[in-house]
Amino acid sequence: MINSLRGFRDLLPPESDLFARIESAAREVFGLYGYQEIRIPILEKKELFVKSTGDTTDIVEKEMYAFTDGGGREVAMRPEGTPGVVRAYIEHNLGQTGRNGKFFYIGNMFRAERPQAGRYREFTQIGAENIGNSSPYADAETITMLVRLLEKAGVGGCSVVLNSLGCAECRKAYREILLAFLRGRSETLCEPCRGRIERNPLRALDCKTDGPSLAETAPKLALCPACAEHFARTQELLKISGVEFQVNTSLVRGLDYYTRTVFEVRSSALGSQDAVCGGGRYDDLVKSMGGPAAPAIGWAVGVDRMAMILKDKPAPDNAPKTFVVAAAKEAGEKTFALLTALRAAGISSDYSSFDLSLKSQMRSADKSGASFALIIGEDELKAGTCAIKSLKEHGEQKTVPLPDAPSAIQNLLKGSVERPPNP
Ligand code: HAM
Repeated sequence: MINSLRGFRDLLPPESDLFARIESAAREVFGLYGYQEIRIPILEKKELFVKSTGDTTDIVEKEMYAFTDGGGREVAMRPEGTPGVVRAYIEHNLGQTGRNGKFFYIGNMFRAERPQAGRYREFTQIGAENIGNSSPYADAETITMLVRLLEKAGVGGCSVVLNSLGCAECRKAYREILLAFLRGRSETLCEPCRGRIERNPLRALDCKTDGPSLAETAPKLALCPACAEHFARTQELLKISGVEFQVNTSLVRGLDYYTRTVFEVRSSALGSQDAVCGGGRYDDLVKSMGGPAAPAIGWAVGVDRMAMILKDKPAPDNAPKTFVVAAAKEAGEKTFALLTALRAAGISSDYSSFDLSLKSQMRSADKSGASFALIIGEDELKAGTCAIKSLKEHGEQKTVPLPDAPSAIQNLLKGSVERPPNP
């Protein structure tokens, strides 16, 4: 018996249905906002993530599935989607196509984190990247779209937390101030932080061990006038879109490429892994990766965590509408043809096995949650008809000619929708 790897899981029904529901809600919302799908590889050159996500981040330092392939190439399984989208944008000159630079992706990511509820080593993200727009309108639009997506998918209890990390200029001065503060406390810092504060002092504020207490006492970043104006405008525009948010100056995010606006969405319905979404601006990343100067903003939601929140909500009815039953051995072929005709008419239909007894097939029909069973026995076979039996309401039964069965079912289904629900 070979089991799955720790932190890697099978997505089974009904959770797989939840994933499909979330994905289709996302596609609908992306369509409204002019985003187009991009599919990027799972495996990339390792240096892509080292240079973009950042070599002092936990993701790259500790969590990446990186290895040397048979050809001696240093490769890594994507821990996040943004670097691959940026690489594709540069590689295919997507800024030159005359279309907007709005892309979405849905896919699995890999991080060798310690598995726990809501944290897996393989997980699914739905991400959005808007490349080429520096305006605060893009910030407000992107965050509004995220909130609409969560609403559309039925994920409630969420709060949006917002901060600005400023630009390279604001950060230059802040780096020195923060470094002096951290050096003064280096004795109390955890081992990894002590090793990396000189390379990336901001990282210490996001450290899972030291971060929370440091972020409260550390000196705060002073935004330059242009960044302050951008942040204020973003907040005004979010209010116009009706998005509620809180500003939290301790929010730093665990990836290196962010500039200006950063945000997270947290849900009270989750435990310690309460971040449903993370995102922000990355105005310098495209250029630093060898592309044109293209300011950008994006986010990614964790689908596994969204599904956790939705788990207890009633799922939409995925049961087939009809279930076909062959009540005589010779009726198998006609019943199979009926099944095909029902599906061709857009009526979801199922069956168990035509070789089983009538009783056993009817038991499966009841269990399936279908509204109607269509039964062909010896009499129906002779008359070219089928019996339609309601599985929901007092088991009413009627007989119709076989070619009329799909339209009869459509009428019955319409009737059952229009009928008021039982008190
Ligand atoms: P992130 O904050 O690292 O950002 O991940 C985004 C979301 O992915 C998290 O809020 C969480 O819901 C989910 N997630 C992350 N790690 C795990 C895990 N081990 N298990 C389950 N879910 C997880 C990014 O990945 C950026 N690329 C977002 C972005 C796009 N920024 C700009 N554009």
